[in-house]
Amino acid sequence: MSKQILITGGAGYIGSHTTVSLLEAGHEVVIIDNLSNSSIESINRIQLITGKSPIFIEGDIRDTDLLDRIFTKFNIEAVLHFAGLKAVGESVEDPIKYYSNNVCGSLSLFQAMAKADVFRLVFSSSATVYGEPDNMPISEDFLTGTPTNPYGKTKLVVEQIIADLVQADRRWSIASLRYFNPVGAHPSGLIGEDPQGIPNNLLPYISRVAIGELAELSVFGNDYATPDGTGIRDYIHVVDLAKGHLKSLHAIFHKTGMYIWNLGTGKGYSVLEMIAAFEKASGKSIAYRIAPRRAGDIAECWANPSKAAEELLWEAELGLDDMMIDTWRWQSSNPQGYDS
Ligand code: NAD
Ligand code: UFG
Repeated sequence: MSKQILITGGAGYIGSHTTVSLLEAGHEVVIIDNLSNSSIESINRIQLITGKSPIFIEGDIRDTDLLDRIFTKFNIEAVLHFAGLKAVGESVEDPIKYYSNNVCGSLSLFQAMAKADVFRLVFSSSATVYGEPDNMPISEDFLTGTPTNPYGKTKLVVEQIIADLVQADRRWSIASLRYFNPVGAHPSGLIGEDPQGIPNNLLPYISRVAIGELAELSVFGNDYATPDGTGIRDYIHVVDLAKGHLKSLHAIFHKTGMYIWNLGTGKGYSVLEMIAAFEKASGKSIAYRIAPRRAGDIAECWANPSKAAEELLWEAELGLDDMMIDTWRWQSSNPQGYDS
């Protein structure tokens, strides 16, 4: 009987790119997604890119009966867990929604996995669990901090639950991947980030200015202690991130315990550098104005990615130009995202 990888949230931005990587590597994939922040069209596009079809189940990971049925019906050998909500501002306004989806959802999944004797898991964590470290770059042995919002706290809580799970039962084998700032899109232009409403994140916002849907970008603060005064982040191409998942999945196959890996490039770029790079790639000029700092933002955040390089033999290969060219290809050929 063939084996499958279960991908929660596989219709979403990072999950869809990772599904492509897994299908191309010869894995069979089952996706569960409630489509609360994604479109079924992304599944059709995955098929167009790979010529293969993931099995898609529309449903919520908090539906324990549905999870039990999935684990009974399929021969799941590992789970990649992307399903969750990620809008920082919304999490401040509606913390129950975030703790319910991200924490209760994860617990429901872990329970169903244990019941089905499936103990391999790759979890989508975030660099936000480091809080505001004193030094850069950030290594995995830095202490975790206090995230400034409920979204970030849900990631930290789930990491703590995972640490308790592996202590309690030695059969668990879990990778927690701390992403830095995922950007870009598949080079086919067929799948990419499709935020609902006004985007929160920098590059989706810049893209909407470029297609004329938004008038100008607000640059949140130019008085940080950085070379040009604007915030610095470690932007990582989503295709590199997807490959990092494949390597992590293979790495945990014959181990047990909890493994934490930073997935970043090790390079930081400022907001103004990002605007200039996007303008160069797209040939569009981006109107912007300097606005006050955004609450909860930190001045700089970039990874020391050497642990993943040594232990996974994984390094980000794509640079800033690729991130911008691929973002622009996706945005300009799908101006309304998957509704285009
Ligand atoms: P996304 O919103 O595009 O994808 C998440 C998917 O999960 C969506 O398709 C959504 O419909 C689905 N989903 C949400 N709640 C669900 C539930 N209860 N049951 C079933 N499906 C559900 O987000 P993304 O950018 O692809 O992020 C994937 C994961 O990575 C998330 O857990 C996110 O918190 C984490 N992460 C993202 C970033 C980022 O900047 N994109 C950074 C760090 C960590
Ligand atoms: N920025 C602007 N204008 C905007 C949007 C962002 O100037 O309209 C700036 C921010 O101030 C920051 C940089 O661009 O300096 C990046 O901001 P993003 O919102 O794109 O990303 P963040 O680093 O704030 O947040 C991301 C994820 C979170 C995650 C966090 C830490 O969106 O989910 O990284 O991992 F928690």
